[in-house]
Amino acid sequence: MSKDTVKLACGHQMPLLRFGLWKVPKESAADTGIKRAISECVVKREDISITTKLWNNYHAKEHALPMIKAQNESWVFGYIDLLLIPFPSALGKALPRVVSVKPAKVSNQETWKSLKAAVEQGIARSIGVSNFQGQSIYDLFTYNKHPPVIAYSSFGPQSILELPPAFRERAEGLPSLFDIEIIKKIASKHVKTPSQILLRFATQRNIAVSPKSNNKDGLAQTLDITSFYLSKEDIDSILALGQGLSPPNTARSDLQRRAVRSEIWCCS
Ligand SMILES: NC(=O)c1ccc[n+]([C@@H]2O[C@H](COP(=O)([O-])OP(=O)(O)OC[C@H]3O[C@@H](n4cnc5c(N)ncnc54)[C@H](OP(=O)(O)O)[C@@H]3O)[C@@H](O)[C@H]2O)c1
Repeated sequence: MSKDTVKLACGHQMPLLRFGLWKVPKESAADTGIKRAISECVVKREDISITTKLWNNYHAKEHALPMIKAQNESWVFGYIDLLLIPFPSALGKALPRVVSVKPAKVSNQETWKSLKAAVEQGIARSIGVSNFQGQSIYDLFTYNKHPPVIAYSSFGPQSILELPPAFRERAEGLPSLFDIEIIKKIASKHVKTPSQILLRFATQRNIAVSPKSNNKDGLAQTLDITSFYLSKEDIDSILALGQGLSPPNTARSDLQRRAVRSEIWCCS
């Protein structure tokens, strides 16, 4: 595990830089590669941090723990480092390969209890949530001792533009953050690429990132994003780019400010 880690509320360390696998060709082959790297002693299990999610169709208590166990057993890595509830919305259980969008009456608290059981049984080390608005996170505080691990936020329109048409409509026509003048200026000053500047903007504030790239240059650039420092002026000028386009969500903004102070972790 990289020395550039953040300490989670539960005490475990999490790398500031991770690798997102969604939209990576042969995504399912990742576990084979990791198993091989461990068996050939390229890395040790404890040097790898694996995050996965309990999908919306398995939130109910009768499905959650069996599904978490099945996921863990299929990977044979012994345990999951970070297990997430990816969305605060439960759906009815679907048959394999069938996508069901029928809502299910399952509260976040019920699902959270299953995640806690996974920790108690040694299946998961840390647990958290993503795509929760501030109000749902505050609700989670009422029944959880520690702050949860994750809020999720994506940078700019790029990842949305890669989605099917129904999802990408609102992002169309928006400029890529890579092309914003101030980002290019900061990149040129530090002799880095715009993507490295944007990722460093997060990691320097102790916000973990999970970028995905399907090309070698992108991956190599991503690996070099904790070796340099942005000035306060750089950070402030990137923060000033915010256009307030997200839905009003004071609570979440507060949580993200606290993330900067390393109390809660925020990753994309
Ligand atoms: N919790 C959630 O709800 C949620 C939602 C979405 C995603 N995620 C996680 O976040 C991960 C990343 O999400 P994402 O793929 O949507 O967004 P992303 O990591 O922001 O990637 C957006 C695009 O940026 C490009 N890129 C990466 N490195 C680059 C570089 N150095 N220079 C120029 N372009 C670069 C990549 O294209 P190339 O491949 O062409 O390099 C990629 O397609 C996913 O794999 C998933 O694990 C979580």
